[in-house]
Amino acid sequence: MQITKKHVLITGAGKRLGRAIAERLLPYGINLSAHCQTSRAEAQELVAIGKKHHSPVHVVQGDLAKVSEVRAFATQAIAQFGPVEILINSASIFYPTPLDKVTEENWDELMNVNLKGQFFLAQACAAALVEKKRPGVFINLVDVNAQKTLANFTPYVCSKAGLWMMTRNLAKELAPLIRVNSISPGPVLLPENYTDAQRQRSQDKTLLKRLGTPQDIAEAAVFLIENDYMTGQDLAVDGGRSLADGLAG
Ligand SMILES: NC(=O)c1ccc[n+]([C@@H]2O[C@H](COP(=O)([O-])OP(=O)(O)OC[C@H]3O[C@@H](n4cnc5c(N)ncnc54)[C@H](OP(=O)(O)O)[C@@H]3O)[C@@H](O)[C@H]2O)c1
Repeated sequence: MQITKKHVLITGAGKRLGRAIAERLLPYGINLSAHCQTSRAEAQELVAIGKKHHSPVHVVQGDLAKVSEVRAFATQAIAQFGPVEILINSASIFYPTPLDKVTEENWDELMNVNLKGQFFLAQACAAALVEKKRPGVFINLVDVNAQKTLANFTPYVCSKAGLWMMTRNLAKELAPLIRVNSISPGPVLLPENYTDAQRQRSQDKTLLKRLGTPQDIAEAAVFLIENDYMTGQDLAVDGGRSLADGLAG
């Protein structure tokens, strides 16, 4: 699919990988619905960046854990720019949940934000495309650990493994009108509270012995949007982490 003139909705667009993908796509001349939850000021910065590229940007806000909010911001986005032709689910949460400490609230939060919200957003976006018989591309940001395992993060990896399966299943349900693929990043932007030792360990566990860049992930998104013969696939952009030996986590 050509990127130019499309309505793109990116969740978590204010910061980090969602922001990098937004900045990679704005120069094409798009209509961008930039979703945020708390980073409204950062998402709003995309409006000025978009202006330079004749890409109107509309900021939408909502908690992915609440289906009513997901439906509300999807409706706002569609009212602004028409059906979402390119949906990029980047928002997520990630924190350790050792088995002896994890609570039901942790489980629900990780599942709701990382899986349930993404599902109902895809449902809302797909309905508008199907109604207008307009093609679409959905991309979900998974994680290389969804297939590899990550000790002390069981609910998180389960949510991401679910998102990977959701990608494959929706690819089947929505074909041939909508292509659905995922990207599994390896260590790219580590959590801000990581120590130097944790950063080094993450890097050492890749085959390429370095962290990826947000641009590596944004390039993968461009590839998946433009390649019209790909659906139901996961693209690991992980420096070889998925092949590297070693204990889980
Ligand atoms: N960074 C990496 O190296 C890496 C590695 C593997 C996988 N990934 C995956 O790639 C994607 C992007 O990574 P990232 O590091 O950029 O993600 P991130 O910084 O952890 O989160 C991105 C955004 O998610 C939004 N978010 C959190 N809780 C939300 C909620 N309840 N409702 C709505 N939005 C919520 C936040 O938006 P606000 O700031 O607006 O609140 C946040 O800025 C994620 O899906 C992540 O799992 C990343």
